[in-house]
Amino acid sequence: MFQLLVLFITLSLGSVAIADPSQSTGEDGFQRCAACHLPGGEGIPGAFPPLKGRIASIASSDEGRAYLVAVVNVGLMGSITVNGMPYMGVMPAQGSNYDAGGISELLNYSVQVIDKENASTDWKPFSAAEVESILESESATNSQGTARLREALLAQHPELR
Ligand code: HEC
Repeated sequence: MFQLLVLFITLSLGSVAIADPSQSTGEDGFQRCAACHLPGGEGIPGAFPPLKGRIASIASSDEGRAYLVAVVNVGLMGSITVNGMPYMGVMPAQGSNYDAGGISELLNYSVQVIDKENASTDWKPFSAAEVESILESESATNSQGTARLREALLAQHPELR
């Protein structure tokens, strides 16, 4: 019930956000994510996992990059732990809201702005072509594939558990 209330409040706040033409497209694209993960990406413990503090690390490996594209494309549901905190939520698929370029921009914004403290200077930004090729892989188009990508990521980076 609390989670539903929070969801309702964050979604209503999201819908009254006024478009600012000076915003980058990545920031624009992130507004949908911000409705749940909050504009600064901190999330809400137990309801919406944080992106700040971990998305730069996730985006620093191939498994993690594929995982991020898959989560945006097909969403995520079921039980996961994030920084040791259990989540049992539903993230709706976001793939229909963006093209490959839009996904690359919002992920670049997530790493370079939302998680800038952890983004390394030699980090390679996503390109539309990279996102497109990930979207062509089986794993990024269904929830089982996304779950496998998460397992592969956590096996390599236990610090993200
Ligand atoms: C309606 C709410 C909602 C929206 C909108 C949303 N998410 Fe999520 N997101 C969630 C929830 C809930 C989870 C956890 C799902 C679970 O418990 O299995 C999640 C999980 C994630 C994860 C996995 C985190 C991890 O550490 O494994 C990532 C990455 C993510 N979201 C990114 C995004 C991005 C990027 C967007 C915008 C394109 C977005 N989310 C939009 C609710 C949302």
